[in-house]
Amino acid sequence: MVSAVPVEIREVTRKAEVRRISVHSHIKGLGLDENGEPLPVADGLVGQIEARKAAGIIVQMIKEGRMAGRGILFVGPPGTGKTALAVAIARELGVDTPFVAMSGSELYSAEIKKTEVLMRAVRRAIGVRVREVRRVYEGVVKEIKFMMARHPFNPYVKIPRGARITLTTRDDEKTLEVSEEIAAQLAELGIRKGDLIWIDAETGLVRKIGRVKGVEKARYYDIDIWHYYEKMPSGRIFKEKEIVRTLTLHDLDQYYVAQKAAVTAFLGFEIAEKEIDPEIRKAVDETVKKWLETKKAELVPGVLFIDDAHMLDVEAFSFLTRVMESEFSPIIILATNRGLTKIKGTDIESPHGIPLDILDRLLIIPTKPYTPDEIREIIKIRADEEDIRLSEEALDLLVKIGAEHSLRYAVQLMEPARIIAQRRGRNEIKADDIKEVSKIFVDTRVSVELAKKWEELFLK
Ligand SMILES: Nc1ncnc2c1ncn2[C@@H]1O[C@H](COP(=O)(O)OP(=O)(O)OP(=O)(O)O)[C@@H](O)[C@H]1O
Ligand SMILES: [Mg+2]
Repeated sequence: MVSAVPVEIREVTRKAEVRRISVHSHIKGLGLDENGEPLPVADGLVGQIEARKAAGIIVQMIKEGRMAGRGILFVGPPGTGKTALAVAIARELGVDTPFVAMSGSELYSAEIKKTEVLMRAVRRAIGVRVREVRRVYEGVVKEIKFMMARHPFNPYVKIPRGARITLTTRDDEKTLEVSEEIAAQLAELGIRKGDLIWIDAETGLVRKIGRVKGVEKARYYDIDIWHYYEKMPSGRIFKEKEIVRTLTLHDLDQYYVAQKAAVTAFLGFEIAEKEIDPEIRKAVDETVKKWLETKKAELVPGVLFIDDAHMLDVEAFSFLTRVMESEFSPIIILATNRGLTKIKGTDIESPHGIPLDILDRLLIIPTKPYTPDEIREIIKIRADEEDIRLSEEALDLLVKIGAEHSLRYAVQLMEPARIIAQRRGRNEIKADDIKEVSKIFVDTRVSVELAKKWEELFLK
């Protein structure tokens, strides 16, 4: 029997969630004006006006909670910005809205069942915003000293076994001896003199808020990612503090599994189990419902983006249909570059390889091939983002490649071309560099042709 999830939640670090969307790093949003009309070039996006307008309407529907039971499908040829638009939607939704991106092909892992992969993705895409009054130690780090010990397995590595930390405010000062788990967080966060931090008194969770000026022997920089406070804060070190956190249902599942397995020693553990017991998820759901009823928490439905949706099979689609109808459902965005094709694992043809009953629930947004001018604009933005200098001729050539092959291919050639240029002692990429990399790296159309040609050469 599974009892209710305890109130003390510890955030689980999301290593697995760090997704590679770096080719879309230039995208900051949908680039719409206040009436929801797309600006020609804005927020890193170029052209694709109708699709962006549609995406803007979707964002509004999501924010107003009017997407229940429905999903979105981006359809268009390769490299027309389907993934880019999904990323832009996520950026528009705000920081604490979960966004999970996966490819349909990720379902076919040898170790985990397809539905478990999907279930996990779904639960990572649903946030629960919890407001809690916690007891914390909060203050500015005046002194920090780690007690180091040898790593149990690797003699070359030393790990903190504990730490002594002195926190200070204008009215108070406290020296704390902290355990290995807290010391590990302090080390990982790089906590040093002058940092304003808090440590949760019960769970040991450490958070850095910023840096406070004027602490003796602390080093300050002209440029830093942290906020610098001019004044030392006041008040007691040990106090109650309201904390708002957004956890995902998957965090809670994992937390529960860890509790059950008594793996309390590690922060940032990975689940050892291949599958989470449905009973656990049920218990988590019940608890969350209670929190919602008592206004202890708010639901933050996020986005689950599944690229290459034609890779999903019937079982996966029926799972997604059920998810759309359930009470905790993220917004499901699918994308595909396939036209009429067989539904995976069957002989049934369907538009985009998607069963009709699920197609009925999807709002379909087409993306269209770019004009050469748009391709030029996008390549310029990407070059800027990657700090790459292109000569006029190199840019012209990339535009040509983008129009003839695909934008994706043109974008991908830039980094290798930079390396070629560097080897030739230049900072600027010239047309010759592009020519060379386009010969040694081919796009998929050419690679398929080559594979066909070689196939005839193979022994039968
Ligand atoms: N309208 C746009 N404005 C700016 N950058 C774009 C735009 N459309 C695409 N890009 C960029 O061009 C590259 C290719 O686009 P993207 O990967 O989104 O295409 P896709 O439609 O998802 O292709 P595929 O079908 O191959 O998955 C990416 O780096 C993307 O960020
Ligand atoms: Mg894509």
